Amino acid sequence: MSRFVVEGSNRIDGKIRVQGSKNGVLPLLSASVLVSGESVFKGCPELTDVKAAINILTYLGCRAEQKDGVICVDSSGADKFTITEELMREMRSSVVFLGALLGRFGRAEMSAPGGCEIGLRPIDLHLEAMRALGAVIDETGGKLVCSCPQGLKGARISLSFPSVGATENILLAACTAKGETLLINAAREPEIIELADFLNACGAKISGAGESVIRVEGVDKLCPCEHSVWQDRIAATTYMSAAAVTGGRLELEMNRPSLLLPVIELFEKTGCVIDIKGSKINIKGASRLKKFGIIRTMPYPGFPTDSQADFAVMASVAQGTCTIVENIFENRFKYVSQLRKMGAQIRIENRVAVIEGVSRLSGANVVSPDLRGGSALVVAAMCADGITVVDDIYHIDRGYEKFEEQLKILGVKIKREE
Ligand code: UD1
Repeated sequence: MSRFVVEGSNRIDGKIRVQGSKNGVLPLLSASVLVSGESVFKGCPELTDVKAAINILTYLGCRAEQKDGVICVDSSGADKFTITEELMREMRSSVVFLGALLGRFGRAEMSAPGGCEIGLRPIDLHLEAMRALGAVIDETGGKLVCSCPQGLKGARISLSFPSVGATENILLAACTAKGETLLINAAREPEIIELADFLNACGAKISGAGESVIRVEGVDKLCPCEHSVWQDRIAATTYMSAAAVTGGRLELEMNRPSLLLPVIELFEKTGCVIDIKGSKINIKGASRLKKFGIIRTMPYPGFPTDSQADFAVMASVAQGTCTIVENIFENRFKYVSQLRKMGAQIRIENRVAVIEGVSRLSGANVVSPDLRGGSALVVAAMCADGITVVDDIYHIDRGYEKFEEQLKILGVKIKREE
């Protein structure tokens, strides 16, 4: 197992370019299964989750490789519609291959997906939607065996919750289905817009992505194209939180800075100064953060659940008391017990965390419980007195590209130990 050793109490200072988005690139890679020919994705992050997706593509018979941030996928030779349990367990996003495999082969076989243990994470909405589009699904023995005896047919689907993954699966399955699909209460996350943009560039007819109602007119065939992956709004927020808690300065290079609108005002509430010019986002932390009050995690454009741990760290060293209400995943406060070891004053009741800021955190031995909880602990370590050891950092490697190298550029004293 690998760990980070972080020496705290130094301000970050410097510039970095924000990595490609993990949550953006994964559905794009599954979409490549639907395209006949070679899709080219530029600006891809090097992450273990991305490797897991490439392994799935290769297993399916595609030619897929990543070099210098470019992933080329030629799916012409794809000849399998089954994903093994081992490959499925690697990450949660493996479930987004379901819509793509049904679209390509009219069949799919897989087990339940793995991923962060931040909640139950059922896939009932995905399955209900695939059934509405004509799939027959057998769910015995933890395995999903899906076929479409009459082919996929467009349908009207109303989601009871705007699930990101289910919306992606529906777009993937519907774009080559017969006829029109109307998706109501779709997720509005930027990753949905990006996926629709890519599919449309390949010849799909999707309108309304980014809104609650999406219309998809099925087409016969998708043709390959080249796509530059959008940058990661969640990773950007983590780096900004590092500037906030260390009272440092950071310049982020990121196209589409408006993707950060759900968090910018909250950073400003804590006394951070943010200046955005074109694709440059400058943030300057305050000598002591002010309280941001209450945050409720919500589907986009509400406050992202993926950034709540970053803000919990900020609240831990801010003046006054802050509250975080987690509305999306039921088990997303696992990092709190670790943050308490560092001196944070946090009370949890069900989905609510009440955080009383302390003037300093102190170094401790902590364990990364999941991806975003883990990266937040590293940020906490940067502003703590003394040394912090963060164990089980394989979680962090799933979503942060060259995390310690980026942090070293910013002046953080961090090393990886195997
Ligand atoms: C995606 C993101 C994740 C982010 C989350 C919410 C990826 C790879 N991951 O996860 O980082 O935190 O969106 O923004 O893009 N649900 C059901 N049944 C379903 C599907 C979901 O009950 O069939 C529930 C989930 O348990 C959860 C909520 O809906 O409580 C939101 O889940 P969803 O939007 O599907 O998240 P993911 O796509 O898994």
